[in-house]
Amino acid sequence: RDDAIVLGLESSCDETAAAVLRADGTILAEAVLSQQEEHARFGGVVPEIAARAHLEHLPRLVAQVMDRAGLGYGDLAGIAATSGPGLIGGLIVGATLGKGIAIAHGLPFVAVNHLEAHALTATLPGILPAAVLAVLPEARGRDALPAAGDGRHAGPVRFPYLLLLLSGGHCQCVAVEGVGRYRRLGTTLDDAVGEAFDKSAKLLGLPWPGGPALERLATQGDPAAVPLPRPLLGRPGCDFSWSGLKTAVAQAVARGPLTGQGKADIAAGFQAAVAAVLADRAAHAIAMVPGATALVVAGGVAANQAVRAALAGAAARHGLPLVAPPIRLCTDNAVMVAWAGIERLRRGLTDELGHAPRPRWPL
Ligand code: KG4
Ligand code: ZN
Repeated sequence: RDDAIVLGLESSCDETAAAVLRADGTILAEAVLSQQEEHARFGGVVPEIAARAHLEHLPRLVAQVMDRAGLGYGDLAGIAATSGPGLIGGLIVGATLGKGIAIAHGLPFVAVNHLEAHALTATLPGILPAAVLAVLPEARGRDALPAAGDGRHAGPVRFPYLLLLLSGGHCQCVAVEGVGRYRRLGTTLDDAVGEAFDKSAKLLGLPWPGGPALERLATQGDPAAVPLPRPLLGRPGCDFSWSGLKTAVAQAVARGPLTGQGKADIAAGFQAAVAAVLADRAAHAIAMVPGATALVVAGGVAANQAVRAALAGAAARHGLPLVAPPIRLCTDNAVMVAWAGIERLRRGLTDELGHAPRPRWPL
């Protein structure tokens, strides 16, 4: 039913989030609390600290979104909580709170796979056409693709589509063929792409998480000044590998002494290499799924403008739009969890209260 309302909970990494969503896609309330500051002095997410922070903040966020939505628990059709993959302590906090509310109010519980939640975000009614990125000017011709907001892409993205999940913890390419129907086309052989940004940024003396700072620094640099490798570029398939690029950054830094300009050049070279590899991998993925209707990006790295431009170009060359949901729905959030929960509830897919959170849970 389109008026069914679901509460979603997210606590798999370092974002604590709750959201109330109606089955027609209307977001009734959402709240996200980033723990970035708590982890920054350790240079990365500390699982124990993350779990304790979720425990401290999640109940309050839940009360807050329910209050803002003007709802009581009795108005809900179900509770959806991320139950994997992710850091086990945080997963237990979110799933257990979700089950507690479900028991107390006699509601169905849905254990949501975090990757599925990212994958289905693009089907959330209302996020298009704003999410369709303008196509690069050189791709515009007689058969020009629509620019953002021109309405021709109104309505959700249709199956099958391609998802590139580019975050600090994940780096994979998935063919999304329907709800519950996912085919992983490629994954990273070593680090996640966000991790590569963070590690390279650290080598350049930037604070964690380094992606945004590295992007800012790169604007001052010459991407051609320091030649860096482009791992797997031109190879078949759409797997990823970033450790060689990170090592090359370490070697360039070690050759020092580095001026400010030198650092900016390395940042620009690194970012250009990542963008080129991602565009190449995306092109291979598009060729692997002939019926694909769109290339969708998610994850924190999707915020990067050079990455977006490269992916928009790759998609446009194959006649596809690049769909980039608003950043707050690209990074970890509870709206996507509630939406995945709604899609599962529609199909009668609920979980037992004994469902155990899974640190590893491939799609
Ligand atoms: O999806 P996300 O917020 O959290 C998870 O990892 O689950 O992604 C965070 C990652 C970090 O590695 C961060 O450095 C990277 O996304 N990131 C960026 C940018 N903004 C965030 N990387 C490159 N450029 C950016 N503008
Ligand atoms: Zn995520």
